[in-house]
Amino acid sequence: MTQTCLLTGGAGFIGSHLAERLIEEGHRVIVLDDLSTGRYANIEGLDRKHASSGRFKFICDTVLHERVVEEVVREADCIFHLASAVGVNLIMDQPVRTIETIFGGTDTVLRCAARYRRRTMIFSTSEVYGKSTDVPFREDGDRLEGATTKHRWAYACAKALDEFLALAHWKQSRLPVVVVRLFNTVGPRQTGQYGMVLPNFVKSALANEPIRVFGDGRQTRCFCHVLDVVDALAGLMKSTEADGEVFNIGSSEEITILKLAEEVVSLTSSDSEIVLVPYKEAYGDEGFEDMQRRLPSIEKIGALTGWKPKRNLEQIVTDVKSSV
Ligand SMILES: NC(=O)c1ccc[n+]([C@@H]2O[C@H](COP(=O)([O-])OP(=O)(O)OC[C@H]3O[C@@H](n4cnc5c(N)ncnc54)[C@H](O)[C@@H]3O)[C@@H](O)[C@H]2O)c1
Repeated sequence: MTQTCLLTGGAGFIGSHLAERLIEEGHRVIVLDDLSTGRYANIEGLDRKHASSGRFKFICDTVLHERVVEEVVREADCIFHLASAVGVNLIMDQPVRTIETIFGGTDTVLRCAARYRRRTMIFSTSEVYGKSTDVPFREDGDRLEGATTKHRWAYACAKALDEFLALAHWKQSRLPVVVVRLFNTVGPRQTGQYGMVLPNFVKSALANEPIRVFGDGRQTRCFCHVLDVVDALAGLMKSTEADGEVFNIGSSEEITILKLAEEVVSLTSSDSEIVLVPYKEAYGDEGFEDMQRRLPSIEKIGALTGWKPKRNLEQIVTDVKSSV
């Protein structure tokens, strides 16, 4: 059935890929984005091709404007709420904006969704697991966040509060909400400007400049191709059994950041040297705590929709290389 899908943050990296998929599936898409970290270029193709038929609409505004949000929510059948402050650099440099955008935006979107009873997907993050060492992380596992004096935890706590709020709407009024916790998502269009690791590594490698690995490089991450993530999102949005539930989405192939840097050097035939940079030098004196491992359990989404990632690291690096 054709639906009108509202994508807040739809001009961003993940949102623009999702918008393309939804249009391909025959849906109508409305993007609400203030272009703070997203780019019009990401959705320009959709806008040029589908705006005149009314199948695509772009509104440049913030999710903090309730009047605007209310109008687009009323027009939509379902909502993907991706708009958020993102990237370690932005979160460390602009802590007030981070909290206001994440929590204020989600509160506004959910209030409007509740008014018109629209199915809503809330975008959370693997960061909510904090410093937990209980890997692989399961959706019902405990979370362990650091002190409030360490700003990097504001992102995780604001996102966790978004989750609480979404689940509270489900509990109190059965508003259909789905919470997704994304682990590192990578692919074409991701910008390295706000501290994302892979585009930065690939950019440095292609320029034969030093690749800066923070800490000792032994921390591990799992990288999932954005098109695999989009498959997962589309599958969950179709399943009403996902309502009121939280799902991890990510790859379960673990790699150390140092090894990732080595792979990038090899796959780009680069002469770059790899340098270790202490966290203090990378993020200033405030103290930066990193998580050693961030490995998702993807059993829950697999059991409901059959989803698992298809693309490996080599395919990911090749795709990122063609877009930086
Ligand atoms: N990329 C990842 O690895 C990853 C991991 C975990 C969670 N996420 C979550 O996925 C979502 C999308 O992230 P992304 O990687 O595509 O980042 P992105 O920066 O490309 O997308 C975020 C979009 O939100 C927009 N935005 C920011 N503030 C806004 C506001 N006040 N009003 C309207 N639009 C606003 C930005 O302009 C941008 O287009 C975010 O909620 C993010 O927290 C991403």
